[in-house]
Formats: sequence, C-alpha cells, structure tokens
Amino acid sequence: MRALFVPLLLIYASGSGRAAGASGTKGTRFVCTAVPAGTDLSCPVDTSSRVQGTSPQEEELRNTVIQLRETILQQKETIVSQQGTIKELNSKLARCEADARSRGSARRKDYSKNTMGDLPRDPTETVQQLGKTMQSLKDRLENLEQQQLRANTSGGMFPNELRDLLKRRLTDLESQLLTRVAELEEEKSQLYSETATHRQRTENTLSSLLERITELEKSNNAFKSPEDFKVSLPLRTNYLYGRIKKSLPEMYAFTVCMWLKSSASPGIGTPFSYGVPGQANEIVLIEWGNSPMELLVNDKVTQLPLSVSDGRWHHICITWTTRDGFWEAYQDGERLGTGENLAPWHPIKPGGVIILGQEQDIVGGRFDATQAFVGELSHFNMWDRVLRPVDISAMANCSAYMPGNVVPWVDANVEVFGGATKAALEICEDRLFDS
Ligand SMILES: *[C@@H]1O[C@H](CO)[C@@H](O)[C@H](O)[C@H]1NC(C)=O
Ligand SMILES: *[C@@H]1O[C@H](CO)[C@@H](O)[C@H](O)[C@H]1NC(C)=O
Repeated sequence: MRALFVPLLLIYASGSGRAAGASGTKGTRFVCTAVPAGTDLSCPVDTSSRVQGTSPQEEELRNTVIQLRETILQQKETIVSQQGTIKELNSKLARCEADARSRGSARRKDYSKNTMGDLPRDPTETVQQLGKTMQSLKDRLENLEQQQLRANTSGGMFPNELRDLLKRRLTDLESQLLTRVAELEEEKSQLYSETATHRQRTENTLSSLLERITELEKSNNAFKSPEDFKVSLPLRTNYLYGRIKKSLPEMYAFTVCMWLKSSASPGIGTPFSYGVPGQANEIVLIEWGNSPMELLVNDKVTQLPLSVSDGRWHHICITWTTRDGFWEAYQDGERLGTGENLAPWHPIKPGGVIILGQEQDIVGGRFDATQAFVGELSHFNMWDRVLRPVDISAMANCSAYMPGNVVPWVDANVEVFGGATKAALEICEDRLFDS
C-alpha cells in the first residue's frame, strides 16, 4: 500500500514542555502518530500506538486533530483555487503587456516616418507608462503568491484573516485589471484619433510649406523688371489667350504698340482685340486667312501695309484719332502707311475687355480658333493719344522705353489662360540675337 501521509502531527499529551524530536525518544510524555490519509481517526487502527486508557482530555485532543485535518484539507483546496486565479490573472497581464508592447512598437514605426517639426508628443510614452503599471500589478501579485507560499509551508495553518485578506486583494486586483484593460481599449481608440489629428497637422504644415515654396519660387522667377516678359501662344486654339486686367477709358485717339514674333500662316491671327458691351469689335488688329493685316475700329475696317510673319521679332505701332478717322501704321520704327475715314468722330467706348491672341464675338469670349494669334508677344502698350514718330522709332530701336499711359505692359496686369505662358524676356537684348 502506497504510504500517503498528511504532515506528521505532534500532539501535546500532558503537562508542559514542547514536542521535540521523533517519536520513541524517551516518549513517556509525548505521543507521535503517523496517520495514513483518509483514515478515520475516530477509530484508530494501530492499537499498539494508542495511548493507554481514554480520558476526556484524550477525546478532546482527538477531536482537535480531526478538526485540524479538515482545516488543512480546506486550506489546500483554497490554495489550489487561488493559484488558479493567480495563473489566470498572470496570463491576462501577459496578454495586456504583449498587446501594449506590440502597439508601442507599431506606433514607433509610424512616428519614425515623420520628420517635420512641430509634432505632438509621442503616444508610445503613454503605452510605456501603462506597461509599467502592469508590471507593478504583476509584482504585487507575485508578492501575494509568495506570502501564500510562506503561509503554506510554515505549518500549513495560515489564519483565516490572511486568507480572507488575500481573497479580497485578489478580487480587488482582478477588478483593477479589468479596469486597466478597459482603459487600454480606450487608450487605443484615443491613439487612433490622435494619429488622425497628427496626420492632419502634418498635412497642414506640408501645404503651408508648399505655399511658401511656391511664393519663393515666384519671387525668384520674378522678371528682372515688371515689363521684361513675353506671352507665348504656341497653338492655334480657341482657348489659349491672355487678358489685360485693365480696361480702357473713353478715348478720342489712341496709339497701340507691341513687339510680335510669329511665323504662322496663313495669317498670324489676332494679336489683340478690344470688345465692349454692344460692340465686340471696338478695336481689333487681325491678319486672317490670306488677307493682309487689318485694323477694325467700331467694326469699321482698314487694311494695313504691315507684314511680320517671318518668325522674327518686329515692333509695330498703330495710331488713330477720331478726327477724320485718321490712322498711321509703323513697323520697326518706320511709318509704312496712313489713312483716314476709319470710324471718324467715333469715341472709343470704355469698360470693355482687352484680349491678347483671340478675336472676341462677345465681350471676353466666343473665340474662333481660325482667328487665333500663334506666336509671342511683348510690350503691349496703349496711350490715349497719337504718339510722335520720333517716340515710336526710339522705342523700336530700343533707345527709349515708354510704358503706355492707359495700358502699361506690366506682369501684374496680364493674365494667361488655357496653356498660354508668361516667360522672362528682355526684348531689347533678345531681338539683337534673333535669327
Ligand atoms: C501549499 O501546499 C500544498 C500541499 O501541502 C501544495 O499542493 C501547494 O502547491 C502549496 N502552495 C503553494 C503556493 O506552493
Ligand atoms: C533710335 O531712334 C531715335 C529716334 O528716332 C534716334 O534719335 C536714334 O538715333 C536711334 N538710335 C539708333 C541706334 O538707331
């Protein structure tokens, strides 16, 4: 039979003194009994080890033994169940910690991508803080376990108060843990929204940086002088054009000058047109199809002896006055033609739109691709008077530059649309190397 013994019980039989040593050593005052597990102590089997004669004292002692044994069995059960609880709590802790760790490292990866300044605090710190709290909870649990172990081995009789205390603390710890887990979940969703906020902030920083870069580029690319640029209209379309932001006042005379470069054929198209409400052809310069260049004033037309479609830069000027409808046409500083009766006594109407490169059928629109100007254009200036020939030839040979008094050629005054471009050009430098 396999010997299953509960811990040896030392029973104080009579008188004073302490139980010491093994049974049988001068054993007159102490009786030591090894009791097999499961044995009914109320009916001892080993009569030889029985104390001779049964006194009420002896009965009481036997009852005490039975009670103690029951207590021990109960304690064993309690301990086993408490160990189960501890194990469960430990594995919960481990899961929480692993979760926090993996989230922490994931966050770190996210954050390492961001190199911008002005960032919010790294939320992994929060996760690390939580990890520490978890660790301290775990330590406390281990302490409890060791306390229990000590109580377990020091005679197997730890007081009821300790057991109850342990139970309470375990329950307490478990609810703390559950709260922690809930907080972790909460933290997780907060981290996600923090990420979104953070991304938004990064995007804002990026776009404001982009704006600043664009501005810097603009000011870097700013033309040497506000008039040192050209407008390029490379294709014959009905959507590439430039627009002068300024309109014209009422005028009784005008001079319009510009530099043109085109090799388009047949005809260079419409270098500019001025349309007003009720008269789309208030002033138009056009070379259309196989016709020569024409000037329209209030939809009246005259042909001009100008020809510029050789692919080189040319300076042209046209003057007009309401008196007798007298006009002049200049090319490269030379007056090549004059005429009269072009819309005589007509005042140029104000408040219209000047379009570069397109002929208007209504004010500011309804362009016709076949009438579009193809080429480059610069120094488009207008005056509300007839300029003297000497002023015009001085501009054409670059010995003088005069901005128009009603429309000066300045960068800020010219908008381009549909793929038309503005580019730096110092015409008086470039035209000398023009081939
Ligand atoms: C307490 O002792 C019992 C047997 O006496 C044992 O099974 C149990 O594992 C011990 N408790 C601890 C926490 O070691
Ligand atoms: C340019 O034109 C002006 C005005 O006609 C004239 O006085 C000057 O001599 C010309 N200069 C050159 C370099 O041709």
